[in-house]
Parts: sequence; C-alpha cells; structure tokens
Amino acid sequence: MTACSNPEQLKKPKLTVIDRANTPLSVSSPDNKIAVLFSITESGEFRYQVQHQQQVIVKKSQLGFEFLQQPALTQFEVIARQQVSYNNSWQAVWGERKNIVEHYNELLISLKDKHSLRLLNLRVRVFNDGIGFRYEFPQQTAMQAFVITDEKTEFNIAQDMQSWWIEADYNSYEKIYQSSQLQQLKHVQTPLTMRAKSGLHLSIHEAALTDYASMSLLRKQGTLLEAELAPWADGTKVKAKVPFNTPWRTIQIAENASQLVESDLIVNLNEPNKLPDSSWIRPMKFIGIWWEIHLGVHTWQEGPRHGATTAHAMAYIDFAAQNNIQAVLFEGWNKGWEKWGTREAYVVPTDDFDLHKVANYAREKNIVIVGHNETGGNIAAYEQHVEEIFSLYNELGINVVKTGYVAEQGFANGENHHGQFAVRHYRKIVELAAKYNIMLNVHEPVKATGIRRTYPNMMTREGARGGEWNAWSEGNSADYSMILPFTRLLAGPMDYTPGIFDIDFSNFSGQRYDWSGNPQNADYRVRTTLARQLANMLVLYSPIQMAADVIENYRAHPAFDFIRQLDVDFDDSQVLAAEVGEYIYIARRSGKTWFIGLATNTQSRTAQLSLDFLKANKRYDAQLFTDAADAHWQTNPELFEIQRREVRVNDVLEVKLAAGGGAAIILQEK
Ligand code: NOJ
Ligand code: CA
Repeated sequence: MTACSNPEQLKKPKLTVIDRANTPLSVSSPDNKIAVLFSITESGEFRYQVQHQQQVIVKKSQLGFEFLQQPALTQFEVIARQQVSYNNSWQAVWGERKNIVEHYNELLISLKDKHSLRLLNLRVRVFNDGIGFRYEFPQQTAMQAFVITDEKTEFNIAQDMQSWWIEADYNSYEKIYQSSQLQQLKHVQTPLTMRAKSGLHLSIHEAALTDYASMSLLRKQGTLLEAELAPWADGTKVKAKVPFNTPWRTIQIAENASQLVESDLIVNLNEPNKLPDSSWIRPMKFIGIWWEIHLGVHTWQEGPRHGATTAHAMAYIDFAAQNNIQAVLFEGWNKGWEKWGTREAYVVPTDDFDLHKVANYAREKNIVIVGHNETGGNIAAYEQHVEEIFSLYNELGINVVKTGYVAEQGFANGENHHGQFAVRHYRKIVELAAKYNIMLNVHEPVKATGIRRTYPNMMTREGARGGEWNAWSEGNSADYSMILPFTRLLAGPMDYTPGIFDIDFSNFSGQRYDWSGNPQNADYRVRTTLARQLANMLVLYSPIQMAADVIENYRAHPAFDFIRQLDVDFDDSQVLAAEVGEYIYIARRSGKTWFIGLATNTQSRTAQLSLDFLKANKRYDAQLFTDAADAHWQTNPELFEIQRREVRVNDVLEVKLAAGGGAAIILQEK
C-alpha cells in the first residue's frame, strides 16, 4: 500500500478556485480548444452551447426537467457561479492504461427557478477530450422528494454529420449498428458517434449512471436531439429526493477517430475507487464450457448432451493451467437451468457436476472459476439469494461471476433493463460482489458509464450484440464489429467473446442441434477470418478476456500460441491508426511487451505500421499472426501465417489484412 489514503492517487492534485462575482458564464478546456458558453433568454430559458476552435459544434440547447405534480424547471435566473481548475493524475487498478490524466476546468452555476424558490445547480467540466455536465438538486426547503417525468436536455448539433448508432430499446442493446446522416435517425442509444466533414468526431454518452434512468436520444427535428429516459413500469422516469445529482451528460470531442478511442473522459467523470482493498482484482484470460452450448453440441440443462460435467470441467481446468489461461467459466452446472431464478439454479450443482471436487481441483491448479448466474430477469429472487450465493462462491474460489438477465420483454416485475429500478439493482450487485471479493461480467446489462473507476470489480459486460450471435443467427459481419471500438467500446470494456478458430463450425458437423433439439442445418458461421478473431482480443478491450472457442479447437493449433502469450493486464494503449467503421490498429503494452491488434471491415487493406512508439536502441522480437495471402472472410477464413523477425524503432511493418480480416502482433523487447 502507498502512504496515500486514496489508493488511486499518484500525486497531489492541483486545485485552483477562481471565485469572482464576474466569472463569465463560459468555461474552456485546459488547451483552450473547447469552450462551453451559457446564455439565458428573457423568459429565463437557460441554454448551453459548445465550440471547438471557435466553431459552434453544439448550438444553443435547452436544459431542464418536467416533474409529476410539480411545475417544470425550465426557466431560471443565475444566482451564483464558481470556477475551478483541477489537474490530477490517477492510477487505475486495471484498464487500457494504468496512469490517467484528469485535467479540466469546471464551472458551477447556481440557478433559481423564476417562478418558485426551487434551486438547481449545473456543474460543467471541460477537458481536452470533451465535456461533461450534470444537474445537482441541492438541499433546500422549496423542493424535497420529486419524480422526473422528462429530462429536457437537448443536444442541438450544429450540422448534419455521418453518425453510427443502434436504435433505442429499453431492454436490449443487441442490435446491428447502423450508419446514416444524423438527420435520418429517430431514437437511438448512446454512445452516439458522429463525424463532421471537417473530420471532427463527437460522441454523446453519459458517465456515472447512478440511481437514475439511462439516457437515449430522440431526434426532435433536423439535427436536434433530446434526452429520453428509460421509464419505470408506471411510466415515470426518476424518483428522487434532494440532495441529488444526475449522471454526467457527456460529449467526447476529438480531431480524429484515434483520439476518440483514446479518450478517458468517461472514467474521469466518475468518482475515485471506493473499495478499501482492490489487491484481489486482476485482469485475466478465460476459457469456458460455453461456446459448445451455443453451437448446440452440448446443453446447459442436464441430459445426454449436458456440457458441464465433472470430467469436462477438469479437462478445461487442465487446459487452462497448461496454457497460461487464468480462469474457466462453467455454464449450466447448476440444477434447475429450466427454472431460472430459483435458489437451486445458483447454488445446487447438477448430479453429474461435483462442485467441491471441481473447486478443489481448480484451486490446486491455481485456476479461478468463473461462476454463472442466469437470473432470467427474476430480480426479486436474485436479490433474495445473492448473499448466500456470493459467500458460497467466495469460499469455493469462484472469484468471477458472469451474471445474465435474459428477459427480452423486461424483468419479471415489469421493469426495464435500462430504467432506474435496473440501475439500482445492477449497482447493488456490484457492491455486494465487492463485499465477497467477486469480479463481475454482466450480460444483458445496463450500459457502461465508467463506474469501473469507482468499483474496479465491475470488470466487463456485454451490452451489444456479441460473438454468440454467430452460433445461432445470421451473425455479426466484419463491418458490424468494426463499428464497436468507436461506439459501444467508448463506454467501457465489452465481453464480446472473441477467439473462434473453427470459423465454419465444420469440426462439429453433424453434432449440432437447435434449441428444440432438432439437428442444426442452417449454415451459420463466423463472418471474419481467423486472424481477425485474434485481433479482436485486443481491438475489443476487456480486462477479463475470453478465448471463446472450445479447447478441442485450440489444442495443437499453431495460432493458439498468440492467445497463450497474450497478457491482458495492460500498462498503456495507443491507437496507431483508425477510421470509424473501416479499420483500427491498436497497440497495447504489458510490461516490456507490445500486443498489436489490426482489424479491418469487409475491405481488404495493407497496414503500414510505423514502430516509432518502441524504445530507441532496443531490439524487439516480432511474432506476426496474419491473414494468409489468399485469406478472405467468406471463402478462405481460416488461412493464416505466422512469421518471426527482429524489428526496431525505425522500422515500418507492412501487414496485409484480408477482407473481414486482421492481424495480431507481439513485440517482445530483447
Ligand atoms: C446470454 C448470454 O449472452 C450468454 O453468454 C449466456 O450463455 C446465455 N445468455 C445463457 O445465460
Ligand atoms: Ca446476450
């Protein structure tokens, strides 16, 4: 432990308070490129505007709320203002990079309703990579408990832009990303990413979603978007009492796609690490009894094709221990798979799964077990049993839990996956998991908003259409997965489940069944090359990263050598080149080793990688796992090559990427 009481603090942050009556109603980024300006109309409408290099990028946009049984808060007078400059750098427990600079200028504006004594504060922070603002309802007598029926925050984008989005749905993010002009979208999830003709990139999202409903964006007209909150079952949006802060509304602003991906704005707008001890939290690779179930070879439920048997589990543990994999997931080891949500479904093993034997074996081999809790959306039952579950898992060495909330129409009690009820539930589980030293991987989650800074046991989540869709649907194209780093992944890590080697599932031909138990005849497959599957392990960041294929497909496969060597505990990440939806080349460093992922959409291309990020005067051993010359996602997806050579800082690596292809490179300092 360091001497600092705050475990993430690197040095003493610098805080300057500028408190003048004439503080202007505007605030700029430390580098002065971004400015947020406020104005108030005669009638009291309070608006913000955002500029980049003196150009208006968000035109005057309204702020405020409507409530149940209370007049709206949309007409204000300004009663006080205060400006603060903050310069800090903090150390993440894990992440794309360990050291994060948190440097911003803040303006706090105290507002009073023109028609009553109600008070509302607006806090805005401007960083070099974007802005965040939130509403704060201070302690006051004029307002106590309140129910928000509509948040009136607007994002009045100054010009039409190319945009990338998935449609809003209060119970699912598992949609295909679309690209259109801003003027064509209707109602979308965040992050909503946009690119202007000038090359400026914007992405609207939110940070620190806590005890509030998640925000989507509804286009009102032209390029004017308004916040829309996921409702409670009763139709209201947020139930609260003063003092109360909303999540931050964020706009990431970048001069190119690489900078957008490198932005730390979302984590920076979250509270510091709250856990008294994070030493038990660590990034890991994992494999699991999982893909074979999605392929229809094995089943979750007990029966002749049951996947999670004691013998099968021990074979997975052996493979992990022999191959530098730290953890193993078992799905379907609990009794009552058919009865999601019951106590048995979490703590009682099936007759053919000897839980204690498997747990002891894993402990002997130093392997972490990833437990699985499929709630089926039965929140009441999960909350009732969760402490018993987590305390049992803690004793058994099940230090990671993958939770699941499959319930396409909403939770059993009628609430939505993305409403305030759900946000409270998901947070409660994060806090309880921390109490029992459990790291989380949440499927069918609410979106990531950077709470991993505050609760570093909140490792990863699904929250987009993952690789599993390839097993039982028309699947995910290479174009689709190429949009993820610039949209979904801006919010935080994703459990995409990459690393499938048997692209056409031919190794299990004749052994697959659909969910009704009939032979699977559809020609489902993975829609990238094998080398791109390796690249996805770097491009689609997750601190607990799954190598998702079955061990039979990895055993003796030369490409598995990349996964064996991969270390997902990164010190740093740099985007070498990127264009939204087209390609990304990203380099991540663990200690003295760089791991570089290169991925393209369905266009083949040649990457020219300048290695100027390497140390001068050092030699590096390079291993390149690339598409073979005639590889193609459609016709020759599994053709790959491995090359080894020595490289130095001045070298430029030329790497050919097939259509739907990619490459994974290891550069080991000698
Ligand atoms: C959907 C999840 O995304 C998947 O990973 C899991 O295997 C199934 N639900 C069953 O819980
Ligand atoms: Ca899912």
